[in-house]
Amino acid sequence: MSPNTEFIPFARPVLGAEEEQAVLRVMRSGWLTTGREAQLFEQEFAEYCGVPHAIAVSSATAGLHLALEALGIQPSDQVAVSPYTFAASAEVIRYLGADPVFVDIEPQSFNIDHDALRRVAARQPIQAVMPVHVAGYPCRNAEIRDIAAQHGAVVVEDAAHSFPARDDGAIIGSQSDAGVFSFYATKTITTGEGGMLVCTDAEVSERARVMRLHGIDRPVWNRYRAPTANHDYEVIAPGYKYNLPDLLAALGRVQLRRAEEFHKRRLHIAEHYLAALADCEELQLPPHDRPQSWHLFILRLRLEKLAIDRDTFIALLGDAGIGSSVHYRPLHLMPYYRQRYALSPGDFPISLDTYRRSVSLPIYPALRDSEVERICIAVRAICRQHRVR
Ligand SMILES: Cc1ncc(COP(=O)(O)O)c(C=O)c1O
Repeated sequence: MSPNTEFIPFARPVLGAEEEQAVLRVMRSGWLTTGREAQLFEQEFAEYCGVPHAIAVSSATAGLHLALEALGIQPSDQVAVSPYTFAASAEVIRYLGADPVFVDIEPQSFNIDHDALRRVAARQPIQAVMPVHVAGYPCRNAEIRDIAAQHGAVVVEDAAHSFPARDDGAIIGSQSDAGVFSFYATKTITTGEGGMLVCTDAEVSERARVMRLHGIDRPVWNRYRAPTANHDYEVIAPGYKYNLPDLLAALGRVQLRRAEEFHKRRLHIAEHYLAALADCEELQLPPHDRPQSWHLFILRLRLEKLAIDRDTFIALLGDAGIGSSVHYRPLHLMPYYRQRYALSPGDFPISLDTYRRSVSLPIYPALRDSEVERICIAVRAICRQHRVR
Protein backbone atom coordinates (compact mmCIF):
# COMPACT_ATOMS: atom_id res chain seq x y z
CA MET A 1 0.00 0.00 0.00
CA SER A 2 1.53 3.35 -1.02
CA PRO A 3 1.86 5.90 1.81
CA ASN A 4 -0.63 8.17 -0.01
CA THR A 5 -3.36 5.54 -0.19
CA GLU A 6 -6.13 5.96 2.37
CA PHE A 7 -7.04 2.73 4.15
CA ILE A 8 -10.65 1.63 3.62
CA PRO A 9 -11.81 0.02 6.88
CA PHE A 10 -14.06 -3.05 6.82
CA ALA A 11 -16.80 -1.19 8.71
CA ARG A 12 -17.54 2.36 9.86
CA PRO A 13 -20.73 3.66 11.55
CA VAL A 14 -22.73 6.67 10.34
CA LEU A 15 -23.45 8.97 13.28
CA GLY A 16 -24.34 12.62 12.71
CA ALA A 17 -25.60 15.76 14.41
CA GLU A 18 -29.00 14.24 15.18
CA GLU A 19 -27.43 11.34 17.07
CA GLU A 20 -25.18 13.78 18.98
CA GLN A 21 -28.18 15.90 19.97
CA ALA A 22 -30.13 12.85 21.07
CA VAL A 23 -27.33 11.69 23.36
CA LEU A 24 -26.86 15.19 24.76
CA ARG A 25 -30.58 15.45 25.45
CA VAL A 26 -30.41 12.29 27.56
CA MET A 27 -27.21 13.38 29.32
CA ARG A 28 -28.87 16.62 30.34
CA SER A 29 -32.14 14.98 31.36
CA GLY A 30 -30.81 13.49 34.58
CA TRP A 31 -31.96 9.97 33.61
CA LEU A 32 -29.28 7.82 31.94
CA THR A 33 -30.45 4.26 32.29
CA THR A 34 -33.55 2.54 30.91
CA GLY A 35 -36.52 4.90 30.94
CA ARG A 36 -38.66 6.99 28.63
CA GLU A 37 -36.25 6.86 25.62
CA ALA A 38 -36.05 3.07 25.76
CA GLN A 39 -39.83 2.88 26.04
CA LEU A 40 -40.25 5.13 22.96
CA PHE A 41 -37.59 3.18 21.05
CA GLU A 42 -39.52 -0.02 21.75
CA GLN A 43 -42.82 1.53 20.61
CA GLU A 44 -41.30 2.96 17.44
CA PHE A 45 -39.47 -0.27 16.63
CA ALA A 46 -42.60 -2.38 17.18
CA GLU A 47 -44.56 -0.08 14.91
CA TYR A 48 -41.84 -0.22 12.24
CA CYS A 49 -41.90 -4.03 12.31
CA GLY A 50 -45.67 -4.29 12.63
CA VAL A 51 -45.44 -6.44 15.78
CA PRO A 52 -47.22 -6.00 19.12
CA HIS A 53 -44.14 -6.37 21.34
CA ALA A 54 -40.55 -5.10 21.16
CA ILE A 55 -38.16 -5.35 24.11
CA ALA A 56 -34.96 -3.30 24.04
CA VAL A 57 -31.95 -5.22 25.30
CA SER A 58 -28.22 -4.69 25.85
CA SER A 59 -27.24 -6.94 22.89
CA ALA A 60 -28.70 -9.41 20.44
CA THR A 61 -26.95 -12.11 22.45
CA ALA A 62 -29.01 -11.06 25.48
CA GLY A 63 -32.16 -10.98 23.33
CA LEU A 64 -31.60 -14.49 21.99
CA HIS A 65 -31.01 -15.79 25.52
CA LEU A 66 -34.18 -14.09 26.79
CA ALA A 67 -36.24 -15.32 23.83
CA LEU A 68 -35.28 -18.96 24.33
CA GLU A 69 -35.83 -18.68 28.08
CA ALA A 70 -39.23 -17.02 27.69
CA LEU A 71 -40.30 -19.67 25.19
CA GLY A 72 -39.55 -22.36 27.75
CA ILE A 73 -36.28 -23.90 26.56
CA GLN A 74 -34.99 -26.15 29.34
CA PRO A 75 -31.79 -28.01 30.21
CA SER A 76 -31.20 -30.93 27.78
CA ASP A 77 -33.57 -29.50 25.15
CA GLN A 78 -32.25 -29.53 21.59
CA VAL A 79 -32.11 -26.42 19.44
CA ALA A 80 -31.38 -26.72 15.72
CA VAL A 81 -29.02 -24.05 14.39
CA SER A 82 -26.46 -23.93 11.61
CA PRO A 83 -22.77 -23.89 12.54
CA TYR A 84 -22.25 -21.11 9.99
CA THR A 85 -22.87 -18.29 12.43
CA PHE A 86 -21.37 -16.14 15.14
CA ALA A 87 -20.63 -17.61 18.57
CA ALA A 88 -23.67 -15.86 20.10
CA SER A 89 -26.26 -18.01 18.30
CA ALA A 90 -25.11 -21.24 19.94
CA GLU A 91 -23.76 -19.98 23.26
CA VAL A 92 -27.20 -18.78 24.37
CA ILE A 93 -28.49 -22.33 23.91
CA ARG A 94 -25.75 -23.52 26.26
CA TYR A 95 -26.56 -20.75 28.78
CA LEU A 96 -29.85 -22.59 29.36
CA GLY A 97 -28.22 -26.00 29.59
CA ALA A 98 -29.78 -26.97 26.25
CA ASP A 99 -27.76 -28.36 23.34
CA PRO A 100 -27.27 -27.00 19.84
CA VAL A 101 -28.00 -29.51 17.10
CA PHE A 102 -25.99 -28.30 14.15
CA VAL A 103 -27.55 -28.46 10.69
CA ASP A 104 -25.51 -27.64 7.59
CA ILE A 105 -26.22 -24.66 5.33
CA GLU A 106 -27.61 -24.76 1.80
CA PRO A 107 -25.00 -24.41 -0.96
CA GLN A 108 -26.56 -21.35 -2.60
CA SER A 109 -26.81 -19.12 0.50
CA PHE A 110 -25.17 -19.07 3.95
CA ASN A 111 -28.37 -20.13 5.71
CA ILE A 112 -29.65 -23.33 7.29
CA ASP A 113 -30.64 -25.99 4.74
CA HIS A 114 -34.32 -26.73 5.36
CA ASP A 115 -34.07 -30.20 3.79
CA ALA A 116 -31.24 -31.08 6.16
CA LEU A 117 -33.32 -29.62 9.01
CA ARG A 118 -36.24 -31.83 8.00
CA ARG A 119 -34.00 -34.91 8.13
CA VAL A 120 -32.55 -33.95 11.53
CA ALA A 121 -36.00 -33.28 12.99
CA ALA A 122 -37.21 -36.67 11.75
CA ARG A 123 -34.29 -38.37 13.48
CA GLN A 124 -34.34 -36.69 16.89
CA PRO A 125 -36.64 -34.46 18.93
CA ILE A 126 -35.99 -30.73 18.68
CA GLN A 127 -37.64 -28.12 20.86
CA ALA A 128 -36.54 -25.03 18.93
CA VAL A 129 -35.06 -23.89 15.63
CA MET A 130 -32.88 -20.82 15.31
CA PRO A 131 -32.61 -19.72 11.68
CA VAL A 132 -29.83 -17.15 11.17
CA HIS A 133 -30.33 -14.76 8.26
CA VAL A 134 -26.64 -14.58 7.43
CA ALA A 135 -25.58 -11.31 5.75
CA GLY A 136 -29.24 -10.30 5.87
CA TYR A 137 -30.35 -12.77 3.18
CA PRO A 138 -33.61 -14.36 4.34
CA CYS A 139 -33.81 -18.02 5.42
CA ARG A 140 -36.57 -20.21 3.95
CA ASN A 141 -38.91 -19.13 6.71
CA ALA A 142 -42.12 -20.75 5.48
CA GLU A 143 -40.48 -24.18 5.19
CA ILE A 144 -38.67 -23.78 8.53
CA ARG A 145 -41.84 -22.76 10.37
CA ASP A 146 -43.65 -25.68 8.78
CA ILE A 147 -41.01 -28.19 9.95
CA ALA A 148 -40.97 -26.64 13.44
CA ALA A 149 -44.77 -26.80 13.68
CA GLN A 150 -44.78 -30.48 12.67
CA HIS A 151 -42.37 -31.25 15.51
CA GLY A 152 -43.84 -28.93 18.13
CA ALA A 153 -40.73 -26.73 18.12
CA VAL A 154 -40.62 -22.96 18.54
CA VAL A 155 -38.75 -20.70 16.10
CA VAL A 156 -36.43 -17.92 17.29
CA GLU A 157 -34.98 -15.97 14.37
CA ASP A 158 -31.46 -14.65 14.73
CA ALA A 159 -32.09 -11.49 12.74
CA ALA A 160 -28.88 -9.79 13.90
CA HIS A 161 -28.00 -9.00 10.26
CA SER A 162 -31.30 -8.55 8.48
CA PHE A 163 -32.83 -5.26 9.60
CA PRO A 164 -34.62 -3.46 7.88
CA ALA A 165 -35.10 -5.75 4.86
CA ARG A 166 -38.51 -7.20 4.11
CA ASP A 167 -39.40 -10.61 2.75
CA ASP A 168 -42.91 -10.96 1.31
CA GLY A 169 -43.71 -7.53 2.74
CA ALA A 170 -42.77 -8.35 6.35
CA ILE A 171 -39.61 -7.27 8.18
CA ILE A 172 -37.30 -10.30 8.18
CA GLY A 173 -37.15 -11.58 11.75
CA SER A 174 -40.64 -10.46 12.72
CA GLN A 175 -42.71 -13.48 11.70
CA SER A 176 -41.83 -16.27 14.16
CA ASP A 177 -42.30 -16.95 17.87
CA ALA A 178 -39.51 -14.44 18.45
CA GLY A 179 -36.93 -12.53 16.44
CA VAL A 180 -33.84 -10.72 17.65
CA PHE A 181 -32.01 -7.78 16.02
CA SER A 182 -28.52 -6.47 16.80
CA PHE A 183 -27.43 -2.85 17.09
CA TYR A 184 -23.75 -3.70 17.53
CA ALA A 185 -21.31 -1.10 16.15
CA THR A 186 -21.03 -2.66 12.66
CA LYS A 187 -24.71 -3.50 12.18
CA THR A 188 -27.24 -1.92 9.81
CA ILE A 189 -28.40 0.49 12.51
CA THR A 190 -26.34 0.90 15.66
CA THR A 191 -26.40 1.97 19.28
CA GLY A 192 -22.78 0.87 19.80
CA GLU A 193 -24.04 -2.17 21.69
CA GLY A 194 -27.70 -3.12 21.85
CA GLY A 195 -30.50 -5.23 20.46
CA MET A 196 -34.24 -5.70 20.19
CA LEU A 197 -36.38 -8.77 20.79
CA VAL A 198 -39.73 -8.85 18.98
CA CYS A 199 -42.58 -11.31 19.51
CA THR A 200 -46.33 -11.61 19.16
CA ASP A 201 -47.27 -13.44 22.34
CA ALA A 202 -48.04 -11.21 25.35
CA GLU A 203 -46.88 -13.81 27.90
CA VAL A 204 -43.55 -14.36 26.12
CA SER A 205 -43.08 -10.60 25.98
CA GLU A 206 -43.88 -10.21 29.68
CA ARG A 207 -41.50 -12.99 30.71
CA ALA A 208 -38.66 -11.54 28.60
CA ARG A 209 -39.33 -8.08 30.03
CA VAL A 210 -39.15 -9.33 33.63
CA MET A 211 -36.08 -11.50 33.03
CA ARG A 212 -34.36 -8.60 31.26
CA LEU A 213 -34.07 -6.80 34.60
CA HIS A 214 -33.26 -9.16 37.47
CA GLY A 215 -36.62 -10.94 37.40
CA ILE A 216 -38.21 -7.87 38.99
CA ASP A 217 -41.91 -7.66 38.36
CA ARG A 218 -42.10 -3.92 37.49
CA PRO A 219 -39.87 -1.47 35.60
CA VAL A 220 -37.29 0.38 37.70
CA TRP A 221 -38.18 3.50 35.71
CA ASN A 222 -41.63 3.59 37.27
CA ARG A 223 -40.28 2.72 40.71
CA TYR A 224 -37.92 5.70 40.99
CA ARG A 225 -40.42 8.17 39.63
CA ALA A 226 -43.29 7.01 41.79
CA PRO A 227 -44.16 9.26 44.71
CA THR A 228 -44.56 6.17 46.89
CA ALA A 229 -41.84 3.90 48.30
CA ASN A 230 -39.65 2.46 45.53
CA HIS A 231 -38.73 -0.73 47.35
CA ASP A 232 -42.16 -2.11 46.60
CA TYR A 233 -41.32 -4.82 44.05
CA GLU A 234 -41.02 -8.58 43.88
CA VAL A 235 -38.22 -10.72 42.46
CA ILE A 236 -40.04 -13.61 40.82
CA ALA A 237 -37.04 -15.36 39.20
CA PRO A 238 -33.24 -15.00 39.07
CA GLY A 239 -33.24 -12.72 36.04
CA TYR A 240 -30.45 -11.00 34.14
CA LYS A 241 -29.09 -7.48 33.63
CA TYR A 242 -29.92 -7.08 29.96
CA ASN A 243 -31.60 -3.64 29.77
CA LEU A 244 -30.74 -0.98 27.16
CA PRO A 245 -29.90 2.40 28.76
CA ASP A 246 -31.62 5.57 27.55
CA LEU A 247 -28.32 6.99 26.30
CA LEU A 248 -28.19 4.17 23.74
CA ALA A 249 -31.94 4.02 23.10
CA ALA A 250 -31.83 7.70 22.07
CA LEU A 251 -29.17 6.82 19.48
CA GLY A 252 -31.32 3.92 18.32
CA ARG A 253 -34.38 6.13 17.79
CA VAL A 254 -32.44 8.38 15.40
CA GLN A 255 -30.85 5.43 13.61
CA LEU A 256 -34.25 3.81 13.20
CA ARG A 257 -35.50 6.93 11.39
CA ARG A 258 -32.49 6.62 9.05
CA ALA A 259 -32.83 2.87 8.46
CA GLU A 260 -34.38 3.16 4.97
CA GLU A 261 -31.76 5.69 3.85
CA PHE A 262 -28.96 3.39 5.10
CA HIS A 263 -30.57 0.37 3.46
CA LYS A 264 -30.82 2.13 0.08
CA ARG A 265 -27.14 2.99 0.23
CA ARG A 266 -26.17 -0.62 1.04
CA LEU A 267 -28.33 -1.80 -1.86
CA HIS A 268 -26.61 0.67 -4.18
CA ILE A 269 -23.15 -0.59 -3.12
CA ALA A 270 -24.20 -4.24 -3.50
CA GLU A 271 -25.50 -3.52 -7.01
CA HIS A 272 -22.21 -1.84 -7.87
CA TYR A 273 -20.22 -4.88 -6.68
CA LEU A 274 -22.53 -7.34 -8.44
CA ALA A 275 -22.19 -5.50 -11.77
CA ALA A 276 -18.45 -4.82 -11.53
CA LEU A 277 -17.50 -8.36 -10.47
CA ALA A 278 -20.02 -10.31 -12.56
CA ASP A 279 -17.49 -11.48 -15.14
CA CYS A 280 -14.77 -12.58 -12.67
CA GLU A 281 -14.81 -16.33 -13.12
CA GLU A 282 -12.71 -16.75 -9.99
CA LEU A 283 -15.56 -15.44 -7.82
CA GLN A 284 -18.93 -16.77 -6.73
CA LEU A 285 -21.12 -13.77 -5.98
CA PRO A 286 -23.53 -13.79 -3.00
CA PRO A 287 -27.15 -14.77 -3.64
CA HIS A 288 -29.15 -11.78 -4.86
CA ASP A 289 -32.46 -13.24 -6.00
CA ARG A 290 -34.44 -12.00 -2.98
CA PRO A 291 -34.68 -8.74 -1.02
CA GLN A 292 -32.08 -8.54 1.73
CA SER A 293 -30.37 -6.06 4.05
CA TRP A 294 -26.83 -6.42 2.62
CA HIS A 295 -25.30 -6.24 6.09
CA LEU A 296 -22.44 -8.23 4.56
CA PHE A 297 -21.24 -8.79 1.01
CA ILE A 298 -19.64 -12.24 1.08
CA LEU A 299 -17.65 -13.41 -1.93
CA ARG A 300 -16.79 -17.06 -2.31
CA LEU A 301 -13.53 -17.68 -4.14
CA ARG A 302 -13.44 -20.44 -6.74
CA LEU A 303 -10.21 -21.82 -5.37
CA GLU A 304 -9.73 -24.24 -8.28
CA LYS A 305 -9.38 -21.22 -10.57
CA LEU A 306 -6.95 -19.36 -8.31
CA ALA A 307 -3.30 -20.02 -7.50
CA ILE A 308 -3.71 -18.46 -4.04
CA ASP A 309 -5.80 -19.36 -1.00
CA ARG A 310 -8.38 -17.22 0.78
CA ASP A 311 -5.98 -15.86 3.42
CA THR A 312 -3.53 -14.71 0.74
CA PHE A 313 -6.43 -13.04 -1.08
CA ILE A 314 -7.22 -11.15 2.13
CA ALA A 315 -3.56 -10.21 2.63
CA LEU A 316 -3.43 -8.84 -0.93
CA LEU A 317 -6.56 -6.78 -0.29
CA GLY A 318 -4.82 -5.46 2.83
CA ASP A 319 -1.75 -4.55 0.72
CA ALA A 320 -4.10 -2.53 -1.49
CA GLY A 321 -5.37 -0.67 1.60
CA ILE A 322 -8.66 -2.51 1.91
CA GLY A 323 -10.01 -4.06 5.11
CA SER A 324 -12.00 -7.28 4.77
CA SER A 325 -13.25 -10.06 7.02
CA VAL A 326 -14.39 -13.69 7.10
CA HIS A 327 -17.94 -14.68 8.01
CA TYR A 328 -17.74 -17.26 9.51
CA ARG A 329 -15.36 -19.79 10.91
CA PRO A 330 -18.06 -22.41 11.58
CA LEU A 331 -18.78 -23.28 15.18
CA HIS A 332 -18.19 -27.02 14.71
CA LEU A 333 -14.51 -26.15 14.15
CA MET A 334 -14.29 -24.30 17.46
CA PRO A 335 -12.64 -26.27 20.28
CA TYR A 336 -15.57 -26.02 22.68
CA TYR A 337 -18.21 -27.45 20.31
CA ARG A 338 -15.81 -29.82 18.57
CA GLN A 339 -14.82 -31.42 21.86
CA ARG A 340 -18.16 -31.33 23.66
CA TYR A 341 -20.11 -32.86 20.78
CA ALA A 342 -17.27 -34.94 19.22
CA LEU A 343 -17.56 -33.15 15.89
CA SER A 344 -15.26 -33.40 12.86
CA PRO A 345 -14.64 -30.70 10.26
CA GLY A 346 -16.26 -32.84 7.54
CA ASP A 347 -19.53 -33.26 9.49
CA PHE A 348 -20.86 -30.06 7.87
CA PRO A 349 -19.20 -30.04 4.46
CA ILE A 350 -20.99 -27.04 2.95
CA SER A 351 -20.17 -24.86 5.97
CA LEU A 352 -16.54 -25.99 5.85
CA ASP A 353 -16.18 -25.40 2.12
CA THR A 354 -17.91 -22.00 2.34
CA TYR A 355 -15.65 -20.93 5.19
CA ARG A 356 -12.50 -21.80 3.24
CA ARG A 357 -13.64 -19.70 0.29
CA SER A 358 -15.30 -16.68 1.94
CA VAL A 359 -14.17 -13.07 1.96
CA SER A 360 -16.46 -10.27 3.15
CA LEU A 361 -15.91 -6.94 1.36
CA PRO A 362 -16.63 -3.57 3.02
CA ILE A 363 -20.28 -2.51 2.68
CA TYR A 364 -21.73 0.35 4.72
CA PRO A 365 -23.52 3.63 4.02
CA ALA A 366 -20.41 5.73 4.70
CA LEU A 367 -18.46 3.91 1.96
CA ARG A 368 -17.98 6.36 -0.92
CA ASP A 369 -18.57 5.41 -4.58
CA SER A 370 -14.89 6.09 -5.29
CA GLU A 371 -13.95 3.62 -2.53
CA VAL A 372 -16.33 0.98 -3.90
CA GLU A 373 -14.70 1.44 -7.30
CA ARG A 374 -11.22 1.13 -5.77
CA ILE A 375 -12.26 -2.13 -4.09
CA CYS A 376 -13.65 -3.52 -7.36
CA ILE A 377 -10.43 -2.62 -9.21
CA ALA A 378 -8.32 -4.29 -6.50
CA VAL A 379 -10.46 -7.47 -6.42
CA ARG A 380 -10.37 -7.75 -10.21
CA ALA A 381 -6.61 -7.19 -10.27
CA ILE A 382 -6.00 -9.93 -7.66
CA CYS A 383 -8.16 -12.35 -9.66
CA ARG A 384 -6.39 -11.50 -12.90
CA GLN A 385 -2.88 -11.74 -11.45
CA HIS A 386 -3.45 -15.00 -9.60
CA ARG A 387 -5.74 -16.97 -11.88
CA VAL A 388 -4.64 -20.49 -12.74
CA ARG A 389 -3.35 -20.51 -16.31
C1 LIG B 1 -25.42 -13.83 13.49
C2 LIG B 1 -25.22 -13.10 14.77
N1 LIG B 1 -26.02 -13.38 15.82
C3 LIG B 1 -25.90 -12.74 16.99
C4 LIG B 1 -24.96 -11.75 17.16
C5 LIG B 1 -24.84 -11.10 18.49
O1 LIG B 1 -25.08 -9.73 18.41
P1 LIG B 1 -24.67 -8.77 19.62
O2 LIG B 1 -23.25 -8.37 19.40
O3 LIG B 1 -25.61 -7.60 19.48
O4 LIG B 1 -24.87 -9.51 20.86
C6 LIG B 1 -24.11 -11.41 16.11
C7 LIG B 1 -23.09 -10.38 16.29
O5 LIG B 1 -22.26 -10.08 15.49
C8 LIG B 1 -24.24 -12.10 14.88
O6 LIG B 1 -23.45 -11.81 13.86
